Amino acid sequence: MILLTGATGLVGAAVLRRLTRSAAQVRCLVRDPRQLGDQRVNVQIALGDLAEPQSFRHALRGVETVVHLAASIRDQGEPGRGCSIEELNGVGTWRLVEGAERAGVKRLLFISSLGASTLSSARFLRAKAMAEEAVVGSGLDYTVFAPSAVYAQGDAFLRLFARLSLLPVVPLSGRGEALFQPIWAEDVAECVMAVINGGGESGLGSRRYELGGPETISYAEMVDLAIRAAGRRRSVVSVPLGICEPALRVAQLVAGRPVVATQDEVALLEVTMTTPRGTADAQALGVSPRAMAAVLGIE
Ligand SMILES: NC(=O)c1ccc[n+]([C@@H]2O[C@H](COP(=O)([O-])OP(=O)(O)OC[C@H]3O[C@@H](n4cnc5c(N)ncnc54)[C@H](OP(=O)(O)O)[C@@H]3O)[C@@H](O)[C@H]2O)c1
Repeated sequence: MILLTGATGLVGAAVLRRLTRSAAQVRCLVRDPRQLGDQRVNVQIALGDLAEPQSFRHALRGVETVVHLAASIRDQGEPGRGCSIEELNGVGTWRLVEGAERAGVKRLLFISSLGASTLSSARFLRAKAMAEEAVVGSGLDYTVFAPSAVYAQGDAFLRLFARLSLLPVVPLSGRGEALFQPIWAEDVAECVMAVINGGGESGLGSRRYELGGPETISYAEMVDLAIRAAGRRRSVVSVPLGICEPALRVAQLVAGRPVVATQDEVALLEVTMTTPRGTADAQALGVSPRAMAAVLGIE
């Protein structure tokens, strides 16, 4: 039995499609089973939440492999009563690892992030570093994947800039100079499957794969690709972070929910997420990541 968390996300949905095609026995830890769409009839469902570790015990029963993809780049729930990025990604993973050890799980696959560091300026990357420490320090056979920015057709980033491209000029938070090696969610899913199936070099024991796409491009260039994917061409105007961050905070206070993006998301896009290994780790797993422009059908 494989326990999959994050099955309704970009990478999780791509992994789940592959797992159910291979007739693997899968249990999905989900907050809302309806988000699984047609796949909900092909899997066992364990209702659960990263914020509620007691929900892990039932989910982990009889599980051999955990594929832990669930995460959040935003605080969740009501301000003051909700769950923080650190609790969801850091403490949540740490408790899942503990539960997995207790339940006799053999193997854990976890998606961290390039740039994960306890010293990062981005809360998400500090939380991912804490989570990685829990995984690597566990007694489980583990695989850590650290991808650069992950994208898929119609994802939240592409939808946001498709909407903003209706304006005559498109605003961009900060200078857009941070670098990324964007990798397609389907390519990340192929890497996860290669490890689940023991392919490529994955038989060599616990290890960490850094996953980048074939090109290194800036945040501003990713935005340009998103605009072109929406069939438009627009100039981009940089909005200094000193204006962006207070404006987002005020908009969130007025609307009672994040508007456009959160300050944490803006901060994350200021951090370079590249690996000198480029596509080498993906290729060691038999996967050749495609370029973003090619995936999005941009000439
Ligand atoms: N996307 C990127 O650019 C990127 C970059 C580096 C690393 N990563 C990591 O790669 C992994 C997959 O990313 P992704 O882009 O596929 O993520 P995603 O599309 O944002 O999906 C997140 C998943 O986590 C689940 N989730 C969120 N909060 C939860 C909670 N409190 N309890 C249980 N489940 C919860 C969501 O379920 P619901 O349907 O309930 O919301 C969803 O299935 C994540 O660990 C992410 O941090 C992503």
